[in-house]
Amino acid sequence: MGAGEGGGEMAAAAISLDGVRDKNVMQLKKFNTALFPVRYNDKYYADALASGDFTRLGPSRLLPALDLKEGGAICVYIMTLGVLAPYRGLGVGTKLLNHVLDLSHKQNIWEIYLHVQTNNDDAIAFYKKFGFEITDTIRNYYMNISPPDCYVLGKVIAQPHAKK
Ligand SMILES: CC(C)(COP(=O)(O)OP(=O)(O)OC[C@H]1O[C@@H](n2cnc3c(N)ncnc32)[C@H](O)[C@@H]1OP(=O)(O)O)[C@@H](O)C(=O)NCCC(=O)NCCS
Repeated sequence: MGAGEGGGEMAAAAISLDGVRDKNVMQLKKFNTALFPVRYNDKYYADALASGDFTRLGPSRLLPALDLKEGGAICVYIMTLGVLAPYRGLGVGTKLLNHVLDLSHKQNIWEIYLHVQTNNDDAIAFYKKFGFEITDTIRNYYMNISPPDCYVLGKVIAQPHAKK
């Protein structure tokens, strides 16, 4: 899975990731409640169910990502990516993100991006390790959490083909 070397990452490599379906969507809701200060609405869960292989769920972590088109570009937007606190630093996040990167390469996705709260140093360090860069800062992006500001983190996967 491209998880590299080391004991923790070996453990992460043994974890299998499952798709999200009606029968385990409650598990996804529980993970989100434990991991994120934001509450997600029904559309989020409908999108997660519709996102096919991009969404991956396991006993200790989750990864919903949503395919969307923006200005003609085919992008992947990572809605949430989280690992429960006791399991962090073991390479699980790496495994989840590599899953999205691999699928994006195969499906000729142009760019992956996400929003992250400006004080989330762990997540920012995590994504930067994979070549993501801060492309924008949005003030007052979040309504009920502090700080309310977010960074947009992006990584270009492939350049669109030039028009003939
Ligand atoms: C961000 C998150 C997903 C990382 O998951 P993880 O399983 O701990 O990550 P990994 O073990 O695969 O770490 C990969 C790399 O990320 C970086 N990293 C991860 N956690 C870090 C931390 N706390 N501080 C600094 N760097 C960190 C390191 O470079 C690490 O590589 P290394 O172990 O060789 O040093 C996890 O911290 C998390 O779930 N946070 C809460 C939810 C969240 O904020 N998600 C992001 C917004 S969508």
